[in-house]
Amino acid sequence: MSKIISFVFCFMLVYSAAYAGSNAVVDNILSRKSVRKYTAQKVEQEKIDIILKAAMAAPSAMNKQPWEFVVVNDKKTLENIAKILPYASPAKNASVAIIVCGNADISEIYWVQDCSAVTENILLAAESLKLGAVWCGIYPQEDRVKGIQRLLMIPKNIIPLCVIPVGYPAGNDLPKQKYNPAKIHNNKW
Ligand SMILES: Cc1cc2nc3c(=O)[nH]c(=O)nc-3n(C[C@H](O)[C@H](O)[C@H](O)COP(=O)(O)O)c2cc1C
Repeated sequence: MSKIISFVFCFMLVYSAAYAGSNAVVDNILSRKSVRKYTAQKVEQEKIDIILKAAMAAPSAMNKQPWEFVVVNDKKTLENIAKILPYASPAKNASVAIIVCGNADISEIYWVQDCSAVTENILLAAESLKLGAVWCGIYPQEDRVKGIQRLLMIPKNIIPLCVIPVGYPAGNDLPKQKYNPAKIHNNKW
């Protein structure tokens, strides 16, 4: 009898944690925000490894995994990235930047979607590690794609989708409130 009672108690605990508002994954998603200012503190290699592991856990069409990554921590190269990309100035002061690239030879149609899923995983992993990060667009602007390919010696068939500067947050950025029930259409528009 006592076993049944403890089973019921445990079940209730797990159920309430999962469904009554305390869900670590959803909390992390709702906490994520673009962070563009960082302290001088270096991001540890173990954290970069965790982020890249999360990146490659993304879904991809037919599981083709058409992604490649360039991880940059060289100060001069980070500055040059910010010079090539007009809206990627956060790269200048980041500890590290991850350039998410797609291999169009592996998945010509879906590499953008696949690499976008990768990018969101990176942003969420960074948030969960108390790091700040921001998606800075490269593709489809041709001059930006070519500039970054040239700078980082990326082959022509590998297309940089975005650069994600990562560092320890310097400010106190807060997530934007975006939930809007008016965007939801049930059964039909
Ligand atoms: C495709 C794409 C390109 C973006 N490019 C840039 C960029 O070049 N520079 C930048 O500072 N932020 C960029 N952002 C970040 C957006 O500005 C940001 O996600 C948006 O303002 C919402 O804010 P939040 O991320 O804090 O929710 C980009 C986001 C996406 C999805």
